[in-house]
Amino acid sequence: MGSVESRIEKLRETIRHHEYLYYGLDAPEISDAEFDGMMRELKKLEEEHPNLVTPDSPTQRVGGKPKEGFPKIAHSRPMLSLENVTNEEELRDWDRRARLLAGNGAEISYVCEYKLDGMSMALRYGGGNDGAAHLVRGITRGDGTTGEDVTGNVRTIRSVPLSVSHAKLAKAKLPAAFEVRGEVVMPLAAFLKMNEEREAAGLSPAVNPRNAAAGTIRTLEPNIVARRRLDFYAYFALNDSGESLFQEQSEALEALAAAGFRVNPHREAMNDIDKVLAFVNRAEEKRSDLGYEIDGVVIKIDAAQVQRRLGYTGKAPRWAVAYKFTARAGITKVEDIRVQVGRTGKLTPVAWLTPVFIGGTTVSRATLHNADEIERLGLLIGDYVKVERGGDVIPKVVEVVEDKEHPRGDRKFEFPSHCPVCGSEIVKTEGEVDYRCVNADCPARLIESLLHFSARKVMNIEGLGDAVVQQLLDRGLVKSIADLYWLTEADLAQLQHVVTTRDKKTGEEKTRTQGLVGPKERRDLLGEIEASKKQPLNRLLYGLGVRFVGERTAQLLAEEFGSMDALMAASSEELERVNEVGPRVAQAIREFFDEEKNCALIEKLRAAGLTFTAEKRRKTSQLEGLTFVLTGTLPNLTREDAKARIEAAGGRVSGSVSKKTDYVIAGEEAGSKLDKAQELGVKVLDEAGLVDMLTGAL
Ligand code: IVH
Repeated sequence: MGSVESRIEKLRETIRHHEYLYYGLDAPEISDAEFDGMMRELKKLEEEHPNLVTPDSPTQRVGGKPKEGFPKIAHSRPMLSLENVTNEEELRDWDRRARLLAGNGAEISYVCEYKLDGMSMALRYGGGNDGAAHLVRGITRGDGTTGEDVTGNVRTIRSVPLSVSHAKLAKAKLPAAFEVRGEVVMPLAAFLKMNEEREAAGLSPAVNPRNAAAGTIRTLEPNIVARRRLDFYAYFALNDSGESLFQEQSEALEALAAAGFRVNPHREAMNDIDKVLAFVNRAEEKRSDLGYEIDGVVIKIDAAQVQRRLGYTGKAPRWAVAYKFTARAGITKVEDIRVQVGRTGKLTPVAWLTPVFIGGTTVSRATLHNADEIERLGLLIGDYVKVERGGDVIPKVVEVVEDKEHPRGDRKFEFPSHCPVCGSEIVKTEGEVDYRCVNADCPARLIESLLHFSARKVMNIEGLGDAVVQQLLDRGLVKSIADLYWLTEADLAQLQHVVTTRDKKTGEEKTRTQGLVGPKERRDLLGEIEASKKQPLNRLLYGLGVRFVGERTAQLLAEEFGSMDALMAASSEELERVNEVGPRVAQAIREFFDEEKNCALIEKLRAAGLTFTAEKRRKTSQLEGLTFVLTGTLPNLTREDAKARIEAAGGRVSGSVSKKTDYVIAGEEAGSKLDKAQELGVKVLDEAGLVDMLTGAL
C-alpha cells in the first residue's frame, strides 16, 4: 500500500508541475500524450484505491466540473442541451409531438440554425453610466447550472463586442442589462495554424477544432487565447432572469445582429417540416465549405408563446431539437502500418487502409500519431477500425471494431529499429514519445526540409513544389538546402516529366517526356531563389528546421542575437535568456550548431550571400529601474535563474529589503524578508507574478 500511495503522490506532483508549465508559463516540457499517460495512470490507481482520492488531486478538476483557477458562477437559468434526431422519421416524430403539445390548430413556425461545433458560452452585459451596455462576464456552460468565469479570455475574442452603444441598444430594442448565449468556435484556418505551430514546437496536435476551442477558452493565459483567433456566434438574447427578451427567436437573431453580435448568416424561418428537411440537406452539402465545423442543424420553434407552452424535459427544451449529421466515419481494414519520416526526423506511424468513402472523399490513410497511440488502441495489422474525418482534416483511427463481420487482425506492429528510408538507426529520447531518425542527410528529411525551406512563410521560393524538389534530389542536383543557391538554368532544364495524351480520333494513348519547367519558369525560379537571399535572418533560422524553433522562436532569436554568428556562439544559458526558450529548446539549438555538417551548411549559405544579420531588438527593459528582492524557494525557477531573468529585463536584484525595494518575490518558506516587506508596504509577488512581469502580461 505504501508504495501505491507514494506513486500516487509522485504522479500528482509531477502532473501539477507540468500543468503549471503549460497553463501558467506556457512553456510545456513534455508532449500532451505523455501528460495524458500520467493522468491515465493516476486515474487508474485512484479507481483501484478510491480511499486515496483527495479533492486536490489533478483528476478532480477535469470533466464537467469547473476547474480551479476560474471562479464559479451560477447561470441565470440552466444552460441545457438538446434532444437529438438523426433521420427524417425521428424529425417528423418530434414535429408531431410538438404540434400535439402546442394545441390543435396552432400555427407553428420554425427557425433553422446551423449547429456550430464549439463550446457554448453565456455573456452578461450591464449598463454603464454612459447609456451603453458593457461586457461584464463570460461564463462557460460548465455543468449547466454553474460555469466558469472566463471573462478575461472571452474579452480577447474579436467577435465579442466589449460594449454595445446606446444607439445600437435602441436600434436592437435591447435593455441595458441582458445576457447573450452562443457558441465559441475555432475557425478551421486558425485550427490548422495552431496545429502547425504546435508541431513546429514539437507538441502533439489538437484533435479537432471543438477541443481546441474548449482548451483555449480554459487557458489561464489571455495572451494565448488572443493568438488563437476564436469566434463567437450569438443565438439567444435573454433578460437577467434568463427569459427570452423577444417574442420570436427570429426576431432575437436579427436584434443581436443589429446590436453588433456575429450571428450565423445561415438561418431561416419556415412553417413546414418538409422545408426544414430541405434546409438540413442543403446544410450538409455546404458543410465542407464553411471554414468552421458544424455537426448538424438546430430547429427551434419561433414563437416564445408556443415555446412556453411546450416547456422543458429534465435536460432539454421540448421546443427545440438538434438534427445531427451522421458522423463522418467509416469502418475499414488496416492493411498495413508504415512509418513516415518528417522534416525533423520524427517517425509517424500511418495506417494504410482499404479505401473507404467518408464525407465526400476517399480515405486510404490515417495517422496513428505515435507508438503509444497504437498501444492505446490495441491495434493489430489486419484489424477493422473506425475511421473518423472531423474538422481535423487528417483522418483518425478512433477504435478497433470487433464483431462477427469484423474479425481481429493477427500481426503486431513492431516499431522499426532503423529508418525506413535511409536505414540509419533510430533513437527515442528518454521521456519523449516520438522515435526519430537522427541522420541529417536522410533523403526523407531532405525533401521535407526543402519544401519547408521554400514555403511561403519561410524563404518564399515560389515554384519549388513537390515534383521539382523530388527530381532535384533524384538527379543529385541538390543535396542540401544550400545547393539551391548554386542551381543553374542548365540544371533545371534536365528536369522532365512524362505526359500522356490521347488522340481524339483514334482514342489511342501516347506518352512522351516534356521539360518539367519551361524556359520562362526556369528564369522565374532562379529569380525567386536569388530574391530569397534577401529574406530576413529570422526566416532563414526558421527555414533551417532546428527542432522546436518555430516561426516565433526564430523571430525572438534573431532579435536577441542580431546575427547568425552571435547565435551560433551562444551558450545554452545565453539562449535560455530569450523569452520562451527553455532548456529543451536551448539544447536543441546547441546540438544543431555543434554538428559539423550543419556548420558546413551554414558556411555554404553564407558564401551564397544570404542575410546573416538582423536588427537587434532595442532592449525594452520591462523592469528598467526596478529593484527586486528574492526570498524563499520558488516552485520552478532557481534563485540564479530568477536573478538572471530579472537582470536580463533590466531590473536589479538586491539582497535586503528596504523602502527602495520595488518588489519582493516570495516563494515557499519565505522568512524575515517577507515580514519586512509587509512592514514597509513593499509589493509582494509569487513566481507566477514575476513571470507575468517578465513576459509583459502584467
Ligand atoms: S440552442 C437549450 N443553437 O449545441 C438550447 N445550440 O446540443 C440549447 N449549439 O449546448 C442551445 N449551435 O453548445 C443552440 N444554433 C445553435 C447552436 C447550439 C451549436 C450547441 C450548444 C448546445 C449544444 C446542444
